[in-house]
Amino acid sequence: MTKAFYVTTPIYYVNDAPHIGHAYTTVAGDVLTRWRRQRQEDVFYLTGTDEHGTKVERTARDNGVEPQEWASKLVEESWKPVLDTIDAANDDFIRTTSDRHRIGVQKFWETLKENGYVYEADFEGPYCVGCEEFKRAGDLVDGKCPIHDRPVEMLHETNYFFKLAAFQDRLLEHYERHPAAVEPKSAYNEVVSFIRGGLDDISMSRSSVSWGVPLPWDEEQVVYVWFDALLNYITAIGYGQDQEKFDSIWPANVHLVGKDILRFHAVYWPAMLMAADLPLPEKVFAHGWLLVGGEKMSKSKLTGISPDQIIDDFGSDAFRYYFLRAIQFGQDGSFSWEDMAARYTSELANGLGNLASRATAMIGKYREGVLPEPGDYANADLALQELLVAAAERADAAMLQLDFSTGILAIKEFVDAVNVYVTEQEPWVLAKDEESAQRLDTVLYTICESLRAIAVLYHPVMPKSSVKIWESLGAAGELAEQAVTDVATWGQLAPGSTVTKGAALFPRLETT
Ligand code: MSP
Repeated sequence: MTKAFYVTTPIYYVNDAPHIGHAYTTVAGDVLTRWRRQRQEDVFYLTGTDEHGTKVERTARDNGVEPQEWASKLVEESWKPVLDTIDAANDDFIRTTSDRHRIGVQKFWETLKENGYVYEADFEGPYCVGCEEFKRAGDLVDGKCPIHDRPVEMLHETNYFFKLAAFQDRLLEHYERHPAAVEPKSAYNEVVSFIRGGLDDISMSRSSVSWGVPLPWDEEQVVYVWFDALLNYITAIGYGQDQEKFDSIWPANVHLVGKDILRFHAVYWPAMLMAADLPLPEKVFAHGWLLVGGEKMSKSKLTGISPDQIIDDFGSDAFRYYFLRAIQFGQDGSFSWEDMAARYTSELANGLGNLASRATAMIGKYREGVLPEPGDYANADLALQELLVAAAERADAAMLQLDFSTGILAIKEFVDAVNVYVTEQEPWVLAKDEESAQRLDTVLYTICESLRAIAVLYHPVMPKSSVKIWESLGAAGELAEQAVTDVATWGQLAPGSTVTKGAALFPRLETT
Protein backbone atom coordinates (compact mmCIF):
# COMPACT_ATOMS: atom_id res chain seq x y z
CA MET A 1 0.00 0.00 0.00
CA THR A 2 1.42 3.38 -0.94
CA LYS A 3 1.08 6.21 1.51
CA ALA A 4 -0.98 9.24 0.48
CA PHE A 5 0.77 12.60 0.19
CA TYR A 6 -0.67 14.41 3.19
CA VAL A 7 -1.21 18.19 3.15
CA THR A 8 -2.73 20.18 6.03
CA THR A 9 -3.78 23.75 6.79
CA PRO A 10 -3.89 25.05 10.34
CA ILE A 11 -7.31 24.63 11.88
CA TYR A 12 -8.94 28.01 12.20
CA TYR A 13 -10.26 29.64 15.36
CA VAL A 14 -14.00 30.10 15.23
CA ASN A 15 -14.05 33.27 17.28
CA ASP A 16 -14.78 35.14 14.07
CA ALA A 17 -15.53 34.66 10.37
CA PRO A 18 -12.76 33.96 7.83
CA HIS A 19 -10.77 36.75 6.22
CA ILE A 20 -8.48 36.55 3.22
CA GLY A 21 -5.45 35.76 5.40
CA HIS A 22 -7.09 32.45 6.31
CA ALA A 23 -8.24 31.77 2.77
CA TYR A 24 -4.67 32.38 1.59
CA THR A 25 -3.34 29.34 3.48
CA THR A 26 -6.18 27.16 2.28
CA VAL A 27 -5.74 28.22 -1.35
CA ALA A 28 -2.01 27.50 -1.23
CA GLY A 29 -2.64 24.02 0.16
CA ASP A 30 -5.30 23.49 -2.44
CA VAL A 31 -3.07 24.40 -5.37
CA LEU A 32 -0.38 22.06 -4.06
CA THR A 33 -2.97 19.32 -3.61
CA ARG A 34 -4.45 19.70 -7.07
CA TRP A 35 -1.04 19.96 -8.68
CA ARG A 36 0.09 16.71 -7.13
CA ARG A 37 -3.20 15.03 -7.97
CA GLN A 38 -2.48 15.95 -11.57
CA ARG A 39 0.84 14.17 -11.19
CA GLN A 40 -1.31 11.13 -10.53
CA GLU A 41 -0.40 11.13 -6.85
CA ASP A 42 -2.83 10.17 -4.14
CA VAL A 43 -3.18 13.29 -1.98
CA PHE A 44 -5.07 13.71 1.26
CA TYR A 45 -5.89 17.34 2.02
CA LEU A 46 -7.16 18.32 5.46
CA THR A 47 -8.52 21.53 6.91
CA GLY A 48 -10.84 22.29 9.81
CA THR A 49 -11.64 24.39 12.84
CA ASP A 50 -10.11 24.97 16.25
CA GLU A 51 -13.07 25.42 18.54
CA HIS A 52 -11.81 25.21 22.11
CA GLY A 53 -9.86 27.66 24.25
CA THR A 54 -10.39 30.91 26.07
CA LYS A 55 -10.66 33.07 22.96
CA VAL A 56 -13.62 31.17 21.50
CA GLU A 57 -15.27 30.70 24.90
CA ARG A 58 -15.12 34.42 25.70
CA THR A 59 -16.38 35.47 22.29
CA ALA A 60 -19.32 33.09 22.60
CA ARG A 61 -20.23 34.32 26.09
CA ASP A 62 -19.86 37.96 24.99
CA ASN A 63 -22.45 37.15 22.36
CA GLY A 64 -24.71 35.52 24.95
CA VAL A 65 -24.49 31.94 23.67
CA GLU A 66 -22.81 28.71 24.76
CA PRO A 67 -19.43 28.05 23.12
CA GLN A 68 -20.67 24.91 21.37
CA GLU A 69 -23.60 26.72 19.83
CA TRP A 70 -21.40 29.61 18.77
CA ALA A 71 -18.81 27.29 17.22
CA SER A 72 -21.36 25.26 15.28
CA LYS A 73 -23.01 28.38 13.94
CA LEU A 74 -19.71 29.80 12.69
CA VAL A 75 -18.60 26.51 11.21
CA GLU A 76 -21.85 25.99 9.30
CA GLU A 77 -22.45 29.59 8.29
CA SER A 78 -18.92 30.80 7.62
CA TRP A 79 -16.04 28.33 7.70
CA LYS A 80 -17.49 25.51 5.63
CA PRO A 81 -19.15 27.77 3.03
CA VAL A 82 -15.91 29.68 2.45
CA LEU A 83 -14.31 26.45 1.23
CA ASP A 84 -16.87 26.32 -1.57
CA THR A 85 -16.38 29.99 -2.30
CA ILE A 86 -12.65 29.52 -2.85
CA ASP A 87 -13.06 26.12 -4.56
CA ALA A 88 -11.13 24.08 -2.01
CA ALA A 89 -10.82 20.38 -2.84
CA ASN A 90 -10.19 19.16 0.72
CA ASP A 91 -10.84 15.52 1.58
CA ASP A 92 -11.99 16.10 5.12
CA PHE A 93 -12.88 18.81 7.60
CA ILE A 94 -11.99 18.23 11.23
CA ARG A 95 -13.71 19.99 14.12
CA THR A 96 -12.01 19.82 17.49
CA THR A 97 -15.41 19.47 19.17
CA SER A 98 -16.09 16.22 17.30
CA ASP A 99 -16.07 12.85 19.07
CA ARG A 100 -13.34 11.43 16.88
CA HIS A 101 -11.07 14.29 17.88
CA ARG A 102 -11.85 14.14 21.60
CA ILE A 103 -11.27 10.38 21.71
CA GLY A 104 -7.93 10.75 19.90
CA VAL A 105 -6.76 13.62 22.11
CA GLN A 106 -7.51 11.71 25.29
CA LYS A 107 -5.80 8.62 23.99
CA PHE A 108 -2.73 10.59 22.97
CA TRP A 109 -2.24 12.31 26.33
CA GLU A 110 -2.94 9.09 28.20
CA THR A 111 -0.11 7.54 26.17
CA LEU A 112 2.26 10.41 26.95
CA LYS A 113 1.44 10.12 30.63
CA GLU A 114 2.08 6.37 30.52
CA ASN A 115 5.36 7.04 28.71
CA GLY A 116 6.41 9.28 31.62
CA TYR A 117 6.29 12.64 29.86
CA VAL A 118 3.58 14.30 31.96
CA TYR A 119 3.82 15.52 35.58
CA GLU A 120 1.93 17.90 37.89
CA ALA A 121 3.33 21.25 39.04
CA ASP A 122 2.51 24.83 40.00
CA PHE A 123 2.73 27.44 37.35
CA GLU A 124 2.61 31.19 37.11
CA GLY A 125 3.11 33.25 34.00
CA PRO A 126 1.80 35.86 31.57
CA TYR A 127 -0.80 34.51 29.12
CA CYS A 128 -1.92 36.10 25.83
CA VAL A 129 -5.49 35.06 25.03
CA GLY A 130 -5.07 36.23 21.40
CA CYS A 131 -2.21 33.75 20.91
CA GLU A 132 -3.62 31.27 23.45
CA GLU A 133 -0.07 31.03 24.74
CA PHE A 134 1.96 31.51 27.89
CA LYS A 135 4.63 34.09 27.14
CA ARG A 136 8.15 34.41 28.39
CA ALA A 137 9.15 37.78 29.83
CA GLY A 138 11.44 38.33 26.84
CA ASP A 139 8.53 37.89 24.40
CA LEU A 140 6.68 40.95 25.72
CA VAL A 141 6.98 44.56 24.60
CA ASP A 142 5.87 47.11 27.25
CA GLY A 143 4.09 44.28 29.02
CA LYS A 144 2.02 43.56 25.91
CA CYS A 145 1.97 40.74 23.37
CA PRO A 146 3.63 42.20 20.26
CA ILE A 147 1.39 40.20 17.89
CA HIS A 148 -1.91 41.30 19.40
CA ASP A 149 -0.77 44.58 20.96
CA ARG A 150 -2.88 43.75 24.01
CA PRO A 151 -1.96 43.37 27.69
CA VAL A 152 -1.29 39.81 28.84
CA GLU A 153 -3.01 38.20 31.84
CA MET A 154 -1.07 36.77 34.81
CA LEU A 155 -2.19 33.22 35.45
CA HIS A 156 -1.42 31.05 38.45
CA GLU A 157 -2.52 27.45 38.25
CA THR A 158 -1.65 23.92 39.23
CA ASN A 159 -1.27 22.21 35.89
CA TYR A 160 0.10 19.15 34.23
CA PHE A 161 3.33 19.66 32.37
CA PHE A 162 4.74 18.12 29.23
CA LYS A 163 8.47 17.34 29.46
CA LEU A 164 9.43 19.43 26.46
CA ALA A 165 12.96 20.07 27.74
CA ALA A 166 13.71 16.35 27.42
CA PHE A 167 13.50 16.67 23.63
CA GLN A 168 15.91 19.51 23.03
CA ASP A 169 18.80 17.37 21.80
CA ARG A 170 16.65 15.07 19.72
CA LEU A 171 14.96 18.02 18.04
CA LEU A 172 18.28 19.64 17.21
CA GLU A 173 19.57 16.38 15.84
CA HIS A 174 16.42 15.97 13.76
CA TYR A 175 16.75 19.41 12.22
CA GLU A 176 20.45 18.97 11.54
CA ARG A 177 19.65 15.78 9.66
CA HIS A 178 16.65 17.28 7.83
CA PRO A 179 17.49 20.81 6.75
CA ALA A 180 14.34 20.99 4.60
CA ALA A 181 12.03 19.98 7.45
CA VAL A 182 11.21 23.64 8.05
CA GLU A 183 11.00 26.13 5.22
CA PRO A 184 11.75 28.79 4.15
CA LYS A 185 15.34 28.95 5.40
CA SER A 186 14.63 31.95 7.63
CA ALA A 187 11.97 29.90 9.43
CA TYR A 188 14.35 26.97 9.79
CA ASN A 189 16.99 29.21 11.33
CA GLU A 190 14.46 30.74 13.72
CA VAL A 191 13.35 27.30 14.90
CA VAL A 192 16.86 25.98 15.39
CA SER A 193 17.98 29.04 17.30
CA PHE A 194 14.89 28.88 19.50
CA ILE A 195 15.65 25.27 20.38
CA ARG A 196 19.32 26.04 20.96
CA GLY A 197 18.26 28.81 23.35
CA GLY A 198 16.89 26.10 25.64
CA LEU A 199 13.49 24.52 26.06
CA ASP A 200 11.43 24.60 29.25
CA ASP A 201 8.79 22.08 30.13
CA ILE A 202 5.40 23.43 29.20
CA SER A 203 1.98 23.37 30.78
CA MET A 204 -0.30 21.04 28.81
CA SER A 205 -3.52 21.55 30.75
CA ARG A 206 -5.66 24.37 32.13
CA SER A 207 -7.57 24.23 35.40
CA SER A 208 -9.32 27.60 35.11
CA VAL A 209 -10.81 26.81 31.70
CA SER A 210 -13.73 24.46 31.18
CA TRP A 211 -14.21 24.73 27.41
CA GLY A 212 -11.93 21.98 26.14
CA VAL A 213 -11.15 18.27 26.12
CA PRO A 214 -11.11 16.94 29.73
CA LEU A 215 -7.93 15.21 30.82
CA PRO A 216 -8.66 11.49 30.96
CA TRP A 217 -7.03 11.15 34.39
CA ASP A 218 -8.27 14.44 35.92
CA GLU A 219 -11.67 15.64 34.74
CA GLU A 220 -11.18 18.96 36.58
CA GLN A 221 -8.76 20.10 33.90
CA VAL A 222 -8.89 20.43 30.13
CA VAL A 223 -6.09 19.96 27.63
CA TYR A 224 -4.42 23.30 26.78
CA VAL A 225 -5.96 24.42 23.49
CA TRP A 226 -2.79 24.18 21.40
CA PHE A 227 -2.05 20.68 22.68
CA ASP A 228 -5.57 19.75 21.69
CA ALA A 229 -5.52 21.56 18.32
CA LEU A 230 -2.22 20.18 17.00
CA LEU A 231 -3.58 16.68 17.41
CA ASN A 232 -6.19 17.34 14.71
CA TYR A 233 -3.58 16.30 12.17
CA ILE A 234 -3.69 12.76 13.51
CA THR A 235 -7.20 12.45 14.95
CA ALA A 236 -8.69 13.31 11.54
CA ILE A 237 -6.97 10.37 9.91
CA GLY A 238 -7.88 7.70 12.40
CA TYR A 239 -5.34 7.98 15.23
CA GLY A 240 -6.39 5.71 18.05
CA GLN A 241 -9.38 4.47 16.11
CA ASP A 242 -8.53 3.33 12.61
CA GLN A 243 -4.93 2.17 12.48
CA GLU A 244 -5.07 1.12 8.86
CA LYS A 245 -6.24 4.51 7.69
CA PHE A 246 -3.74 6.23 9.93
CA ASP A 247 -0.85 4.21 8.51
CA SER A 248 -1.93 4.97 4.96
CA ILE A 249 -1.74 8.75 5.52
CA TRP A 250 0.62 9.62 8.39
CA PRO A 251 3.18 11.25 8.54
CA ALA A 252 2.16 14.58 7.04
CA ASN A 253 4.21 15.64 4.03
CA VAL A 254 3.47 19.33 4.36
CA HIS A 255 1.99 21.26 7.27
CA LEU A 256 1.22 24.72 5.93
CA VAL A 257 1.24 27.37 8.64
CA GLY A 258 1.49 31.12 9.02
CA LYS A 259 4.78 32.29 10.50
CA ASP A 260 3.05 33.30 13.74
CA ILE A 261 2.35 29.68 14.61
CA LEU A 262 5.68 28.22 13.56
CA ARG A 263 6.97 27.42 17.03
CA PHE A 264 3.94 25.29 17.85
CA HIS A 265 4.39 23.26 14.69
CA ALA A 266 8.14 22.98 14.51
CA VAL A 267 9.06 22.67 18.20
CA TYR A 268 6.15 21.49 20.35
CA TRP A 269 4.47 19.27 17.76
CA PRO A 270 7.50 17.14 16.82
CA ALA A 271 8.38 16.79 20.51
CA MET A 272 4.85 15.54 21.22
CA LEU A 273 5.14 13.05 18.37
CA MET A 274 8.53 11.85 19.62
CA ALA A 275 7.03 11.32 23.05
CA ALA A 276 4.32 9.16 21.47
CA ASP A 277 6.82 7.27 19.30
CA LEU A 278 5.17 8.49 16.12
CA PRO A 279 6.97 9.48 12.91
CA LEU A 280 7.58 13.21 12.35
CA PRO A 281 6.13 15.31 9.53
CA GLU A 282 8.32 15.77 6.48
CA LYS A 283 7.95 19.51 6.27
CA VAL A 284 6.47 22.54 7.99
CA PHE A 285 6.24 25.48 5.61
CA ALA A 286 5.73 28.90 7.19
CA HIS A 287 4.19 31.49 4.90
CA GLY A 288 4.14 35.22 5.49
CA TRP A 289 1.31 37.55 6.40
CA LEU A 290 -1.06 39.46 4.24
CA LEU A 291 -0.56 43.03 5.29
CA VAL A 292 -2.95 45.93 5.16
CA GLY A 293 -1.40 49.31 5.76
CA GLY A 294 1.86 47.55 6.67
CA GLU A 295 0.28 45.48 9.46
CA LYS A 296 -0.94 41.89 9.66
CA MET A 297 -4.50 41.87 8.44
CA SER A 298 -6.83 40.95 11.26
CA LYS A 299 -10.50 41.12 12.09
CA SER A 300 -9.77 42.37 15.60
CA LYS A 301 -7.91 45.35 14.17
CA LEU A 302 -10.78 45.85 11.71
CA THR A 303 -8.49 45.38 8.71
CA GLY A 304 -9.99 42.01 7.78
CA ILE A 305 -11.33 41.66 4.26
CA SER A 306 -13.61 38.69 3.66
CA PRO A 307 -12.96 36.48 0.63
CA ASP A 308 -16.47 37.28 -0.65
CA GLN A 309 -15.66 40.95 -0.92
CA ILE A 310 -13.03 40.14 -3.55
CA ILE A 311 -14.64 37.11 -5.15
CA ASP A 312 -17.92 38.94 -5.82
CA ASP A 313 -16.05 41.27 -8.17
CA PHE A 314 -13.20 39.14 -9.50
CA GLY A 315 -14.36 35.53 -9.22
CA SER A 316 -12.73 32.69 -7.30
CA ASP A 317 -10.15 31.86 -9.98
CA ALA A 318 -8.72 35.35 -10.01
CA PHE A 319 -8.65 35.30 -6.20
CA ARG A 320 -6.67 32.07 -6.17
CA TYR A 321 -4.37 33.28 -8.92
CA TYR A 322 -3.69 36.70 -7.50
CA PHE A 323 -2.47 35.83 -4.02
CA LEU A 324 -0.14 33.08 -5.15
CA ARG A 325 1.13 35.03 -8.15
CA ALA A 326 1.67 38.40 -6.51
CA ILE A 327 3.29 37.28 -3.25
CA GLN A 328 6.37 35.12 -2.93
CA PHE A 329 5.18 32.23 -0.74
CA GLY A 330 7.09 32.53 2.54
CA GLN A 331 7.28 36.36 2.44
CA ASP A 332 4.82 38.97 3.69
CA GLY A 333 2.79 40.71 1.03
CA SER A 334 0.58 43.76 0.93
CA PHE A 335 -2.87 43.52 -0.49
CA SER A 336 -4.25 46.41 -2.51
CA TRP A 337 -7.35 46.60 -4.67
CA GLU A 338 -5.38 48.56 -7.30
CA ASP A 339 -2.79 45.80 -7.73
CA MET A 340 -5.47 43.14 -7.80
CA ALA A 341 -7.41 45.02 -10.50
CA ALA A 342 -4.26 45.75 -12.51
CA ARG A 343 -3.14 42.12 -12.64
CA TYR A 344 -6.65 40.92 -13.31
CA THR A 345 -6.90 43.18 -16.33
CA SER A 346 -3.44 42.72 -17.79
CA GLU A 347 -2.68 39.07 -16.99
CA LEU A 348 -6.08 37.43 -16.89
CA ALA A 349 -8.50 39.46 -19.04
CA ASN A 350 -6.00 40.71 -21.66
CA GLY A 351 -3.54 37.83 -21.38
CA LEU A 352 -5.23 34.48 -20.89
CA GLY A 353 -8.86 35.45 -21.54
CA ASN A 354 -8.04 37.20 -24.76
CA LEU A 355 -5.95 34.30 -26.04
CA ALA A 356 -8.76 31.83 -25.38
CA SER A 357 -11.38 33.97 -27.05
CA ARG A 358 -9.18 34.78 -30.08
CA ALA A 359 -8.25 31.14 -30.61
CA THR A 360 -11.78 29.77 -30.39
CA ALA A 361 -13.24 32.65 -32.42
CA MET A 362 -10.74 32.03 -35.27
CA ILE A 363 -11.59 28.33 -35.44
CA GLY A 364 -15.24 29.39 -35.71
CA LYS A 365 -14.58 31.99 -38.33
CA TYR A 366 -12.02 30.24 -40.51
CA ARG A 367 -12.77 26.53 -39.97
CA GLU A 368 -16.47 26.43 -39.05
CA GLY A 369 -15.73 25.40 -35.51
CA VAL A 370 -13.79 22.26 -36.40
CA LEU A 371 -10.20 21.83 -35.23
CA PRO A 372 -8.04 21.38 -38.36
CA GLU A 373 -5.30 18.79 -38.90
CA PRO A 374 -1.86 20.45 -38.71
CA GLY A 375 0.55 20.25 -41.66
CA ASP A 376 4.35 20.37 -41.41
CA TYR A 377 5.61 22.40 -38.51
CA ALA A 378 7.74 25.49 -39.20
CA ASN A 379 10.49 26.77 -36.91
CA ALA A 380 8.20 29.18 -35.09
CA ASP A 381 5.82 26.31 -34.25
CA LEU A 382 8.62 24.06 -33.06
CA ALA A 383 10.05 26.88 -30.95
CA LEU A 384 6.68 27.20 -29.18
CA GLN A 385 6.62 23.45 -28.54
CA GLU A 386 10.06 23.70 -26.96
CA LEU A 387 8.97 26.62 -24.84
CA LEU A 388 6.13 24.51 -23.58
CA VAL A 389 8.49 21.71 -22.54
CA ALA A 390 10.60 24.19 -20.58
CA ALA A 391 7.59 25.96 -19.05
CA ALA A 392 6.02 22.70 -17.87
CA GLU A 393 9.26 21.54 -16.29
CA ARG A 394 9.82 24.86 -14.57
CA ALA A 395 6.26 25.03 -13.30
CA ASP A 396 6.40 21.47 -11.96
CA ALA A 397 9.68 21.98 -10.13
CA ALA A 398 8.46 25.24 -8.60
CA MET A 399 5.05 23.91 -7.51
CA LEU A 400 6.65 20.91 -5.81
CA GLN A 401 8.82 23.33 -3.85
CA LEU A 402 5.78 25.43 -2.91
CA ASP A 403 7.23 28.29 -4.94
CA PHE A 404 3.81 29.12 -6.33
CA SER A 405 4.68 32.51 -7.76
CA THR A 406 7.47 31.05 -9.90
CA GLY A 407 5.24 28.17 -10.96
CA ILE A 408 2.50 30.53 -12.08
CA LEU A 409 4.98 32.85 -13.74
CA ALA A 410 6.29 29.97 -15.86
CA ILE A 411 2.76 29.28 -17.15
CA LYS A 412 1.98 32.97 -17.62
CA GLU A 413 5.12 33.47 -19.68
CA PHE A 414 4.03 30.64 -21.93
CA VAL A 415 0.63 32.33 -22.35
CA ASP A 416 2.45 35.52 -23.31
CA ALA A 417 4.58 33.59 -25.83
CA VAL A 418 1.48 32.11 -27.44
CA ASN A 419 -0.07 35.57 -27.70
CA VAL A 420 3.10 36.80 -29.41
CA TYR A 421 2.97 33.79 -31.74
CA VAL A 422 -0.59 34.67 -32.74
CA THR A 423 0.40 38.24 -33.47
CA GLU A 424 3.46 37.21 -35.49
CA GLN A 425 1.82 34.42 -37.49
CA GLU A 426 -1.09 36.68 -38.44
CA PRO A 427 -3.69 33.99 -39.08
CA TRP A 428 -6.07 36.71 -40.34
CA VAL A 429 -3.64 37.42 -43.16
CA LEU A 430 -3.19 33.71 -43.95
CA ALA A 431 -6.98 33.38 -44.08
CA LYS A 432 -7.15 35.76 -47.02
CA ASP A 433 -5.02 33.57 -49.26
CA GLU A 434 -6.35 30.16 -50.34
CA GLU A 435 -2.75 28.95 -50.95
CA SER A 436 -1.94 29.43 -47.27
CA ALA A 437 -4.77 27.17 -46.16
CA GLN A 438 -2.52 24.44 -44.85
CA ARG A 439 -0.26 26.90 -43.07
CA LEU A 440 -3.35 28.39 -41.44
CA ASP A 441 -4.39 24.89 -40.31
CA THR A 442 -1.00 24.38 -38.66
CA VAL A 443 -1.03 27.78 -36.98
CA LEU A 444 -4.58 27.34 -35.68
CA TYR A 445 -3.81 23.86 -34.43
CA THR A 446 -0.65 25.12 -32.71
CA ILE A 447 -2.58 27.84 -30.93
CA CYS A 448 -5.32 25.47 -29.74
CA GLU A 449 -2.88 22.78 -28.70
CA SER A 450 -0.95 25.38 -26.68
CA LEU A 451 -4.20 26.42 -25.06
CA ARG A 452 -4.89 22.79 -24.20
CA ALA A 453 -1.59 22.65 -22.34
CA ILE A 454 -2.34 25.95 -20.60
CA ALA A 455 -5.69 24.59 -19.39
CA VAL A 456 -3.98 21.52 -17.92
CA LEU A 457 -1.24 23.56 -16.22
CA TYR A 458 -3.61 26.20 -14.87
CA HIS A 459 -6.23 23.76 -13.63
CA PRO A 460 -4.75 23.46 -10.11
CA VAL A 461 -4.65 27.24 -9.82
CA MET A 462 -7.86 28.20 -11.65
CA PRO A 463 -10.16 25.18 -11.69
CA LYS A 464 -13.17 26.98 -13.15
CA SER A 465 -11.72 28.92 -16.10
CA SER A 466 -9.42 26.10 -17.11
CA VAL A 467 -12.40 23.74 -17.41
CA LYS A 468 -14.15 26.33 -19.57
CA ILE A 469 -11.12 26.46 -21.87
CA TRP A 470 -10.91 22.68 -21.95
CA GLU A 471 -14.58 22.35 -22.88
CA SER A 472 -14.46 25.09 -25.50
CA LEU A 473 -11.60 23.21 -27.19
CA GLY A 474 -13.73 20.07 -27.34
CA ALA A 475 -10.92 18.19 -25.59
CA ALA A 476 -11.61 14.60 -24.57
CA GLY A 477 -11.63 13.31 -20.97
CA GLU A 478 -11.71 15.01 -17.59
CA LEU A 479 -9.36 17.95 -17.21
CA ALA A 480 -8.61 17.04 -13.59
CA GLU A 481 -7.21 13.73 -14.81
CA GLN A 482 -4.72 15.22 -17.27
CA ALA A 483 -1.15 14.76 -16.05
CA VAL A 484 0.89 17.94 -15.69
CA THR A 485 3.95 15.79 -16.25
CA ASP A 486 2.73 14.76 -19.70
CA VAL A 487 1.35 18.12 -20.72
CA ALA A 488 4.13 18.97 -23.18
CA THR A 489 3.65 15.87 -25.30
CA TRP A 490 2.52 17.54 -28.48
CA GLY A 491 -0.57 16.61 -30.46
CA GLN A 492 -3.05 15.54 -27.79
CA LEU A 493 -6.01 17.50 -29.19
CA ALA A 494 -7.81 15.43 -31.79
CA PRO A 495 -8.23 17.17 -35.15
CA GLY A 496 -11.90 17.21 -36.09
CA SER A 497 -13.10 18.05 -32.59
CA THR A 498 -15.67 20.79 -32.16
CA VAL A 499 -14.38 24.11 -30.89
CA THR A 500 -16.79 26.66 -29.47
CA LYS A 501 -16.37 30.19 -28.27
CA GLY A 502 -17.81 30.66 -24.79
CA ALA A 503 -18.46 33.79 -22.75
CA ALA A 504 -15.45 35.90 -21.71
CA LEU A 505 -13.41 34.03 -19.07
CA PHE A 506 -12.47 37.21 -17.23
CA PRO A 507 -15.04 39.90 -17.99
CA ARG A 508 -13.80 43.46 -18.01
CA LEU A 509 -14.12 45.16 -14.65
CA GLU A 510 -16.83 47.74 -14.37
CA THR A 511 -15.31 51.06 -13.46
CA THR A 512 -17.36 52.87 -10.90
N1 MSP B 1 -6.08 27.82 15.71
C1 MSP B 1 -4.74 28.18 15.46
C2 MSP B 1 -4.03 27.15 14.60
C3 MSP B 1 -4.03 25.76 15.14
S1 MSP B 1 -3.26 24.64 14.05
C4 MSP B 1 -3.11 23.27 14.93
C5 MSP B 1 -4.69 29.53 14.76
N2 MSP B 1 -5.80 29.90 14.15
S2 MSP B 1 -6.02 31.29 13.39
O1 MSP B 1 -7.36 31.25 12.87
O2 MSP B 1 -5.69 32.38 14.25
O3 MSP B 1 -4.97 31.34 12.24
C6 MSP B 1 -4.94 30.32 11.29
C7 MSP B 1 -3.95 30.63 10.20
O4 MSP B 1 -4.31 31.82 9.51
C8 MSP B 1 -2.53 30.84 10.70
O5 MSP B 1 -1.64 30.10 9.89
C9 MSP B 1 -2.29 32.30 10.50
O6 MSP B 1 -0.95 32.59 10.21
C10 MSP B 1 -3.16 32.57 9.30
N3 MSP B 1 -3.44 33.99 9.20
C11 MSP B 1 -4.20 34.75 10.03
N4 MSP B 1 -4.09 36.05 9.64
C12 MSP B 1 -3.26 36.12 8.55
C13 MSP B 1 -2.84 37.13 7.70
N5 MSP B 1 -3.18 38.39 7.86
N6 MSP B 1 -2.06 36.78 6.64
C14 MSP B 1 -1.74 35.47 6.37
N7 MSP B 1 -2.11 34.50 7.17
C15 MSP B 1 -2.80 34.82 8.32
O7 MSP B 1 -3.66 30.18 14.78
